[in-house]
Amino acid sequence: MLQLIEKILADVEGFKAENKEQVEEFRLKYLSKKGELNKVFEEFRNVPNDKKKEIGQKINALKQAAQAKFEALQNNHCNDDDSDSLNVDTSLPEMPMELGSHHPISIVRNEIIDIFSRIGFTVSEGPEVEDDWHVFSALNFPPEHPARDMQDTFFIERNPDILLRTHTSSVQVRMMEHTQPPIRSIFPGRVFRNEAISARAHCIFHQVEGLYVDTNVSFADLKQTLLYFAKEMFGTKTQIRLRPSYFPFTEPSAEMDISCSICGGKGCSVCKGTGWLEILGCGMVDPNVLKSCGIDADKYTGFAFGMGVERIAMLKYQVKDIRLFFKNDTRFIKQFEAAK
Ligand code: DAH
Repeated sequence: MLQLIEKILADVEGFKAENKEQVEEFRLKYLSKKGELNKVFEEFRNVPNDKKKEIGQKINALKQAAQAKFEALQNNHCNDDDSDSLNVDTSLPEMPMELGSHHPISIVRNEIIDIFSRIGFTVSEGPEVEDDWHVFSALNFPPEHPARDMQDTFFIERNPDILLRTHTSSVQVRMMEHTQPPIRSIFPGRVFRNEAISARAHCIFHQVEGLYVDTNVSFADLKQTLLYFAKEMFGTKTQIRLRPSYFPFTEPSAEMDISCSICGGKGCSVCKGTGWLEILGCGMVDPNVLKSCGIDADKYTGFAFGMGVERIAMLKYQVKDIRLFFKNDTRFIKQFEAAK
């Protein structure tokens, strides 16, 4: 009898259940009416009186062990999914992983970088939080000059000398301050303007600035560089025209238009009937700027240009609303990788 009790105890303790069904098997095998424990209790009747005490204690211990084991098994499997009651076909293939894609602004930015890299321009970046010197003063904006209002600026309240850059022309200054010519670089980056958001304007957007400083750099070099860029970006049939303009940091200054790629120059709603689309500002670096940055203005000349990446993307892909670039709707963003 003692041997039997010990064998059952060892079996109970060694029992392993993988799932709810096996927990139930345990209950039936040991704890149910016809289970092993009840059989032992029945046998107990035949135990001689002088052994009853000893064997009775063993049987009680066995009963407690079996009950404790059953509770432990139940706890382990109480959260098991009842896969039969879930209407899931586990043999179906899994949902395909969604692949990411480049944002259209990144695509156009990278294309601009590629185009200028092919003619020897290096790429540099500067800080978005800037000081007055790099955004305005060194670029020949005198204090209180109305030209500062051309760009509505976000200032830091506690220190009006610190601001969010309104253009990437600030990186020209940083470049010239620590590098002597020849300099041939472009500076892509994010810029900030305190402007109302509309279909045509946003308070955050992207620009690419270009700078070339060396001996004998001429306006003809500027024009030829920009013609090359326009043809690479918008197609070989593209023509450019330069209109006189004003920027404090360039003299002379110009704005560049490209022939409208939608109507081929005949005039349409996109170019407002003119056949031309404005895409960037440019000019010869003002000698005052060279001097502010520690470059010998008698020895060197240079040209600079700056363009808005959103503007180029809107023209290239015929996007009518700049806000689409910032909404992060993947149905919009995903369309451009293949169109590249
Ligand atoms: N910084 C000007 C802007 O944000 C763009 C610009 C115009 C850059 C003429 C230049 C330039 O380098 O020469 O409106």
